[in-house]
Amino acid sequence: MSASLHPVSPGCGVEVRGVELARLSNSDLSLIRDAFHEHGVIFLRDQTFTKDDHLAFARRWGEIVINEHFPELADTPEIAVVIKEADQKTNIGGGWHADHSYDPAPALGSILVARDVPECGGDTMFAHLARAFDTLSDGLKANLRSLRALHSSRQIYGPGGAYEGTDLKQVLKADGALSDAMHPVVIRHPETGREVLYVNPAHTIRFEGWTREESLPLLNHLYAHATKPDFTCRHRWTPGCVAMWDNRSTWHHALNDYQGQRREMHRITIAGTALDAA
Ligand code: SIN
Repeated sequence: MSASLHPVSPGCGVEVRGVELARLSNSDLSLIRDAFHEHGVIFLRDQTFTKDDHLAFARRWGEIVINEHFPELADTPEIAVVIKEADQKTNIGGGWHADHSYDPAPALGSILVARDVPECGGDTMFAHLARAFDTLSDGLKANLRSLRALHSSRQIYGPGGAYEGTDLKQVLKADGALSDAMHPVVIRHPETGREVLYVNPAHTIRFEGWTREESLPLLNHLYAHATKPDFTCRHRWTPGCVAMWDNRSTWHHALNDYQGQRREMHRITIAGTALDAA
């Protein structure tokens, strides 16, 4: 069977068919890399993908980063367990974000494998931030290129953060280190060279030299723009489905619309590099 690409929406995401990830040839890896860079997120359905396959595929992209907050798979700290039990109310990743943007060298990407999915619900939304940036006005683009923004894990994982007082708090590691980092608001993508809007609702706090109150109107304008249907797609999970997204050029949002049902996903995060301004 030969590999083929099927865009999920005009703005974001592509399904790769005819590829067995556990037996991936170098030529199919090269096709997958190109698709990942162009579409921001790739999806492969019906994969037989053990935890060792997951680790081996991840290592073809780079070093693995261990998430400071998520629970880990027994004996395999490299694999984070993104889980919501049937009696739990709050999910992990239930708002638009880019993984690890609060790190000085943010993650290159994340590889998520669906292990147990609700009969209906629990889809994930994705947004393409290079395509979103391209369609801003020239005046706004020029202003954004001169800015940097502070990112932090505190507003989600810190004291008083989004998960405080929720039933997710007991699932997360109790002692995960918090992290802050300043990044250009428009980055030059390390592999594609494209300009990318690099702020996100979960982890961006404010622009450098601006207060949070001053920053929010412009941030909210950018968030509303980036989440338009033109730049987003919605992915329906099935068991054995694998997705890999680029954390420099996309955001994602795990929808929490499946109360009373269980969902378990396994994630590996790949290390990235410090990000340069466009
Ligand atoms: C995440 O933010 O990594 C979770 C995505 C998902 O569960 O769909």
